[in-house]
Amino acid sequence: MDLSTTYLGMSLPHPMMAGASPLSDEMDTVRQLEDAGSAAIVLRSLFEEQIVSEQVEAMLHEDANDESFAEATSYFPDAGAFVFGPDEYLNHLRRVKEAVHIPVIASLNGSTPGGWLSYGRLLEQGGADALELNVFHTPLDPHKSSDEIERETVAMVHEIKQAVNIPVAVKLSYFFTSFAHFAVQLDREGADGLILFNRFYDSDIDVHELQVTRALHLSSSSELSSRLRGIAAVAPMVKGSLAVTGGVHTALDVVKSTMAGAHVTQMVSALLKNGPGHLSVVRKDLEAWMEENQWPSLAEMRGNMSVDKIPNPQAYVRANYMMMLQTWERA
Ligand SMILES: Cc1cc2nc3c(=O)[nH]c(=O)nc-3n(C[C@H](O)[C@H](O)[C@H](O)COP(=O)(O)O)c2cc1C
Repeated sequence: MDLSTTYLGMSLPHPMMAGASPLSDEMDTVRQLEDAGSAAIVLRSLFEEQIVSEQVEAMLHEDANDESFAEATSYFPDAGAFVFGPDEYLNHLRRVKEAVHIPVIASLNGSTPGGWLSYGRLLEQGGADALELNVFHTPLDPHKSSDEIERETVAMVHEIKQAVNIPVAVKLSYFFTSFAHFAVQLDREGADGLILFNRFYDSDIDVHELQVTRALHLSSSSELSSRLRGIAAVAPMVKGSLAVTGGVHTALDVVKSTMAGAHVTQMVSALLKNGPGHLSVVRKDLEAWMEENQWPSLAEMRGNMSVDKIPNPQAYVRANYMMMLQTWERA
């Protein structure tokens, strides 16, 4: 049974890995992840705001009268709220690298192009085998078009690729208007991989206190479907690697992600719920499923359900949409 895959130019024995999260904060857990067979480990993110905090302070002095800027920065968590400051992050990366033999992927999280991205070079020097660039936009500015947001993201990819020699994968949200078109642009700009999709916290309104409430619920396999659609749509079009994040809990989730066209699957909620050992359970289940269904290798199933297998995907999706609405019956 051949589960091997390649991701961001790295040869991996199988496609399951721990995604960016607190799972990589403690050295004990990091070792447990390696023992359970995680193909690689992604560290939690270092944020743009942490890296540029000095410039932000300088700007606060200059723009003391700019109320919206002062308000925006007042929402930033205090430095103490972050698990790792920039220097600590680098130290942690070095310690994780020393502790394990599997690839370690560092993560930068931000929304604008700029000098902060050159921090990637330090992460490369700290031993990161690859970088994730988690792009987070809050599309609430009525003067900023979707085209502008896309151009900024492309510029971020361009800048980070200038800064580092290690591979860079871009972690994207679901909220891009013409997603397949945008993914191809990022691929052309040199993104070595795409990770679909970033997941946000749930917000709600407390109608009595007139406050926004927030919660970070763990996922379930039901969240996989949007990722499968995204991966299946872009798999035939991009040269780079594809990773699924969001809703990967079982061996069947890994099979579906691979059939859509993914090279790897990242797990966070499943490991936070069940512990690192869940990785070895999923691996055993995957081997059993492939044996039973006579798939000798993952490579043979990769992409066999991607969009190029359908003659007219737009018409197919639209027809299914109409069909589903017209034929719905109470279960
Ligand atoms: C507690 C927690 C912390 C996370 N921290 C990060 C982070 O620092 N950077 C990042 O890119 N994603 C982060 N994520 C998102 C995960 O990497 C992943 O994309 C998301 O949880 C969806 O995968 P899942 O369904 O397997 O949980 C975090 C998720 C959780 C639950």
